[in-house]
Amino acid sequence: MKIAMIGTGYVGLVSGVCFAEFGFQVTCVDKNPAIIERLQAGEVTIFEPGLDDLLDRNAKDGRLVFTTDLATTVADADVIFIAVGTPSRRGDGEADLQYIHAAADEIAAAMKPDAVIVIKSTVVVGTNADVRARIAKARPGVAFSMVSNPEFLREGSAVEDFLRPDRVVVGVHDEAGAIAMRRVYRPLYLRETPMIVTTLENAEIIKYAANAFLAMKVTFINEVADLCEKAGGNVQDVARAIGMDNRIGSKFLHAGPGFGGSCFPKDTRAYAATGRKLDAPQTLIEQVVSINEQRKRSMAERVIEAAQKHGVKSVAVLGIAFKPNTDDIRESPALDIIPLLQKAGLTVRAHDPEARTAAEQVLSGVNWCKSAYEAVEGAGITLLLTEWNVYRALDLKRVASLMDGNILFDLRNVYSGQDLDGTGLEYHSVGRPL
Ligand code: NAD
Ligand code: UGA
Repeated sequence: MKIAMIGTGYVGLVSGVCFAEFGFQVTCVDKNPAIIERLQAGEVTIFEPGLDDLLDRNAKDGRLVFTTDLATTVADADVIFIAVGTPSRRGDGEADLQYIHAAADEIAAAMKPDAVIVIKSTVVVGTNADVRARIAKARPGVAFSMVSNPEFLREGSAVEDFLRPDRVVVGVHDEAGAIAMRRVYRPLYLRETPMIVTTLENAEIIKYAANAFLAMKVTFINEVADLCEKAGGNVQDVARAIGMDNRIGSKFLHAGPGFGGSCFPKDTRAYAATGRKLDAPQTLIEQVVSINEQRKRSMAERVIEAAQKHGVKSVAVLGIAFKPNTDDIRESPALDIIPLLQKAGLTVRAHDPEARTAAEQVLSGVNWCKSAYEAVEGAGITLLLTEWNVYRALDLKRVASLMDGNILFDLRNVYSGQDLDGTGLEYHSVGRPL
């Protein structure tokens, strides 16, 4: 079975590499020649733990190739995955499907009969049916199957998530599509990973509902943190205890500066927009979207207030990526918070282990540093925004001695009481007593 993977971003590259690891012949296509040249040279284009070894092995074994030539690849493929971006459309928050439509048109022109076309990108309900009609119109009389196969991997643990998912969701409109999916996921199937075979529409809704629920859970605990701060509670103790109830579950209960990333923000907006469009208002998620936006602003306000109170001029920001173990900065809280600090007249020094290159393109006026210790030098406030492991065991006495001030904002609750003993730092965290 030959697999074509259209789009080699975070999802396409990881999925393509992992399908090759399953033993299939995989051709990854991207329209960006710079990405393909680097991949052809054996260079991994994203930072994702474990990906380089798998890519190297499968490329050397000849099961994994990279090209910009979509038409030739598709003409020879049995299963064609679409993993292109579905960003937010400016203004209304709806998902922008232009890349899906463009890829579908190119596939339609080149596919062989009986091809199975699988949308792996996150797409709003109705998209698979629309794309199916679009392809049928472009190639009348040519048989093909349409499959919706949303992806649930997380950045930073994408390889592990792809190889060991909680479940695989497959939406189909015919049996040929279901059979093809059972074949491509056979290694997981053999390991008894549940495979939900359902309709195209259900698969699309499942993906958005899952992300919306997780984003809601994070937003919920962030508001509990606010309550804890006012009432003298400790959000970590509360989260631990409520999470022990299996009906609630312990995951996604870490309070922080608000969720970011390439998916939760855009997917919650698109889900809310779909609800409005279909006259089925998703009011909870509408609230989640606005509470999260406000949260990032209020985190910046906390820092600005402290800076004004103590006459601080310079802030050291540790962590720009939206979460650890990724170089992705899309909709990271840092991108909202840093410009607000600068607007308030504060100088920003920053460090991130992997995201600096991406961040330099969108943030201006930041002094980039090679290490956390270099960043805190001369700063009146240190602001920990991403819980990278390198920031989990900082020598806080050294941090305090390098700073020209003594305030530490730990918006990921990485440190606690005894870590601060003897450092002289004024410590602020999220939802916990000072
Ligand atoms: P991305 O922006 O990292 O990558 C998309 C790639 O597709 C780009 O490299 C682009 O050049 C390429 N592309 C666009 N049109 C093309 C075409 N016609 N032919 C060939 N290549 C084309 O996107 P991503 O983060 O991998 O996300 C892809 C989809 O997967 C989105 O719908 C997203 O919501 C979903 N998703 C993402 C994640 C994640 O962790 N990033 C997880 C689950 C689902
Ligand atoms: C998320 C989902 O977890 C994946 O299942 C999904 O496939 C993916 O979106 C997607 O559709 O793209 P990802 O964005 O990579 O994955 O990362 P998460 O670990 O979910 O974190 C998202 C944001 O929420 C981050 O900013 C993170 O810091 C924040 N978060 C997460 C918290 O603030 N607290 C938590 O307890 C968990």
